[in-house]
Amino acid sequence: MSSSARTRSAAGTAWPAVMGANDVTIGFGAATVMSDITVEFPAGTVTALVGPSGSGKTTFLRSLNRMNDKVRNFWLRGQISLDGVDINGPAVDPLVLRRRVGMVFQRPNPFPMSIQDNIVAGVKAHKMAKRSELRDIAETQLAEVGLWSAVADRLDDSPFRLSGGQQQLLCLARALAVKPEVLLLDEPTSSLDPRSTEAVEELVRRLTPDLTVIIVTHNLEQARRLSDSTIFFYEGRLVETGPTVDLFERPQRPETARYLGGAVNPGADR
Ligand SMILES: Nc1ncnc2c1ncn2[C@@H]1O[C@H](COP(=O)(O)OP(=O)(O)O)[C@@H](O)[C@H]1O
Ligand SMILES: [Mg+2]
Repeated sequence: MSSSARTRSAAGTAWPAVMGANDVTIGFGAATVMSDITVEFPAGTVTALVGPSGSGKTTFLRSLNRMNDKVRNFWLRGQISLDGVDINGPAVDPLVLRRRVGMVFQRPNPFPMSIQDNIVAGVKAHKMAKRSELRDIAETQLAEVGLWSAVADRLDDSPFRLSGGQQQLLCLARALAVKPEVLLLDEPTSSLDPRSTEAVEELVRRLTPDLTVIIVTHNLEQARRLSDSTIFFYEGRLVETGPTVDLFERPQRPETARYLGGAVNPGADR
């Protein structure tokens, strides 16, 4: 690949990576919660994961950066790959993997430290910058998520006095500060007001194609607005996947049609 093809964007974000799952089955102890998942997340695109509660979206998402490793009785068969490399292979350090594949959760989880220290926590842990550069990095990242003007004069304050929406943007800034190649978002706006939701959506839109984004959402309009592709999970199976427009306008499977049409229980005939 030519060097220009991998030049970082003006915003300084990363270059995107392709993730894939090949025949992945996941469980906890005797229970199998995801079966035979094969899917590819093309570099630089947004993929939405949708489906009723309990269909396995979070479990699957957390397996993409090995967040389940320490969960009791967790097991996984099949391959999950990042740019063609099995992320569960012996050569992969989970900490390095999680720098490359970042994650933001449903509830904002700022660390109990100052706003600036939150943003640069990963940068420091991975020794990605000199001490003298940290403040500038904090400013750049906060500006990228649209928080700079709100917090410019309180970088040393606790993040816990920020609004929920601002805290979530802070967590996004923290995730982006380590230049991930893939960003995993698990219902990132479900606890936010409409205005903060819009801010997060706007940011996600700006992140591609520099980043590969995989977002779990219960908000079907959000999936439609934001994603290039959609995957519909139901009861631990990948029922249908395709370009978002196709899935919403011409679903091939009756369960998909029912769920995207607003049914709470897509398995039941009406
Ligand atoms: N740590 C765990 N131990 C046992 N079962 C779990 C664990 N985490 C999730 N599950 C089960 O896996 C299934 C899928 O859950 P989850 O991935 O949270 O679904 P979703 O995010 O789609 O709501 C559920 O039946 C849930 O009870
Ligand atoms: Mg979930």
